Amino acid sequence: MKVLLLGSGGREHALAWKMAQSPKIEKLYIAPGNAGTSEVGENVHIQATDFPTLKTFALENHIDMIVVGPEDPLVQGIFESFKEDETTRHIAIIGPTAKGARLEGSKEFAKEFMQRHNIPTARYQSVTAETLNEGLAFLETLEAPYVLKADGLCAGKGVLILPTLEEAQKELKEMLGGMFGDASTTVVIEEFLSGIECSVFVLTDSRNYKVLPVAKDYKRIGEGDQGLNTGGMGSVTPVPFANDEFMEKVRTRIIEPTIHGLLEEDILYKGFIFLGLIKVKGEPMVIEYNVRMGDPETESVMLRIQSDIMDLFEGVHQVNLDTRSLVLDPRSAACVMLVSGGYPEAYEKGKIMAGFEQAAQTDSILFHAGTDRKDGNVVTNGGRVIAVCSYGETKEEALAKSYKVAELIDFEKKYFRRDIGFDL
Ligand code: AMP
Ligand code: GLY
Repeated sequence: MKVLLLGSGGREHALAWKMAQSPKIEKLYIAPGNAGTSEVGENVHIQATDFPTLKTFALENHIDMIVVGPEDPLVQGIFESFKEDETTRHIAIIGPTAKGARLEGSKEFAKEFMQRHNIPTARYQSVTAETLNEGLAFLETLEAPYVLKADGLCAGKGVLILPTLEEAQKELKEMLGGMFGDASTTVVIEEFLSGIECSVFVLTDSRNYKVLPVAKDYKRIGEGDQGLNTGGMGSVTPVPFANDEFMEKVRTRIIEPTIHGLLEEDILYKGFIFLGLIKVKGEPMVIEYNVRMGDPETESVMLRIQSDIMDLFEGVHQVNLDTRSLVLDPRSAACVMLVSGGYPEAYEKGKIMAGFEQAAQTDSILFHAGTDRKDGNVVTNGGRVIAVCSYGETKEEALAKSYKVAELIDFEKKYFRRDIGFDL
């Protein structure tokens, strides 16, 4: 198969690394990719949302399948764009339709979907400027802290958690007044859930599904989960509290109602479903849906998939995923993200990176998140720079290996969290 992977982060390097191991891959392109993906495939300079240019490229290069990494192209309808065009209809797309991508693209849609299908989630009310007073009144029925979510995509920044009613009421007005542009024209107010979170990844062909390794990510910049939110500072898989009993509840109460719900509502969905879950008094509840893999969860999850991922993708396309096997590595995997000093606020780019040769002597695997090549050097090119991933018989062993290599990779103002996995 000739395959095109869309995206440019650590998630895409990890996907590309895994996909490139498949004997089914004849040629792998990544658009736009990064310095890491160019080691396992060929980068092409096309943005993941530039559908016309992607189509031309796909036709000229006889692409058989497109695997979509990030949410933007999905929410913007890449599936429909290719399927409604006679010339590109034959190309397999791994990723849902725009209708399906509303599970991530609209928090209000996701909440209504969960309500329609009895999927456990926090109590909520969705409000607009016209219904502000109802929103303010709903806030009064809740206890602190208060959760406000912009309805639309905000690159992970659209959720506010406020400690007092006064602040929540003030922020609600500001969100509806355009704090996140059009994305917060509608705001979802939610009851705050208290518990421990994990990320469950499901691959579905629209009828059958496979549950990939469960992971936990660490979003805050500071140790002990303090400070600003980031794109993710590390991840661990498996997650001890997501045991068989818990996962059976996830399967029957969340995964199956989600897949049946999509079918029932005639929403074609062939791709990843990412369930952001929280365990509340032993019971799983949905915090959010995403319609793609998580980052940096993918970086550790890919290490634990032993099966040929292209065989699974083929099963998704042909709607016979039930005939494909998913074999998991019983070991733990952990990833530690090295970031640029200052991130997630202002940071500098273009720092020369060193230590790759020493790192290559170890059995850790490096996935590039924000790097570039310049004058023969690898340089930093983003807030999140590189994910150091390792296997271990235990998560402690996997983390210890990743921390050793985190010290070997060097660039000015490097920062990483030293407590990934602390709460497990
Ligand atoms: P999201 O962008 O939806 O992933 O939300 C970001 C983070 O906010 C989640 O990972 C949770 O830690 C937190 N969060 C969102 N909704 C709730 C809720 N209803 N109760 C408690 N925490 C929440
Ligand atoms: N790691 C969370 C996300 O990818 O949204």
